[in-house]
Amino acid sequence: MLRRTLAVSTALAVLAMLPGRGQAWGVTGHAIIADIAEHHLTPATLDAVHALLSEEGLEHLDQVASWPDTIRKERPEASPWHYVDIPLTETAYVADRDCKNGDCAVEAIKRFTAVLTDRGQPAAKREEALKFLVHFVGDIQQPLHGTENAGDHGGNKVRITYFGDNGTQQYPLSLHWVWDTSIIEHHLGIKEEPLSQPNLEARRAAAIAATDIDHKFAKGLPEAAIADPAVWAMESHDAAKAVVYPGVVAPGAEAPASPVILGEAYQKRGWPVVERRLELGGLRLAALLNKALGTP
Ligand code: ADE
Ligand code: ZN
Ligand code: ZN
Repeated sequence: MLRRTLAVSTALAVLAMLPGRGQAWGVTGHAIIADIAEHHLTPATLDAVHALLSEEGLEHLDQVASWPDTIRKERPEASPWHYVDIPLTETAYVADRDCKNGDCAVEAIKRFTAVLTDRGQPAAKREEALKFLVHFVGDIQQPLHGTENAGDHGGNKVRITYFGDNGTQQYPLSLHWVWDTSIIEHHLGIKEEPLSQPNLEARRAAAIAATDIDHKFAKGLPEAAIADPAVWAMESHDAAKAVVYPGVVAPGAEAPASPVILGEAYQKRGWPVVERRLELGGLRLAALLNKALGTP
């Protein structure tokens, strides 16, 4: 009886942790960005990160990278901070139009950077800012986290059949999900577990992928030096215009009634964008943390 109760409560706990579809890169994408960032921290920043994470008995950035996806019920005000809806038909980020009341990824990143930098803030508050930043600096690099098209919520309303997979009735596969998760899964030959906290196996797979991607771009990416989140969002938006939507939905057009069928050809054009944006996410996160936490 006790065992059954435990099993049921475990199942409920797991269900409660199920990520909402379309909130963020999946756990693998976020863990890869966190690992790449950690490779590029200075010793002083690494010490400061360890000190902040030790508040919760944690050590590595990948352990907190998906945390904002686990608090959606308790912190509904944080939901719009994962993305910035710049319309696909527009050509610039306009805060008054795309970030009302400062509720978008661009402004959230600026606010949390200020909290993390301020040594006068309580450690718990700075640790929370660190956890939000690890996640949002990653999210904003995902092309569909900088875009919306005719009210499609960053492709969440565009149904896709990807390599024959339609998702489930409750969670039909979407264009957004393809870019958060499926392209990475297909490249790495893994299937993500529906948990927002990576288990050890997932963390290992992400660490290997992070090392591979980081080596591939070892000569450096010139855009990595850009520190303005509004520019990151526009890059994402432009990638959505150039690579995500063509042949799927036209700019300004409503989501098609039936699923769009995509597979190998789309994967081939999507992965190079995903790996570049994961690397940029890692490098930009590292630069931001080195500036906020390194010795002044
Ligand atoms: N909800 C509304 N717009 C979104 C976007 N661009 N990305 C993720 N979730 C969203
Ligand atoms: Zn997110
Ligand atoms: Zn997402």
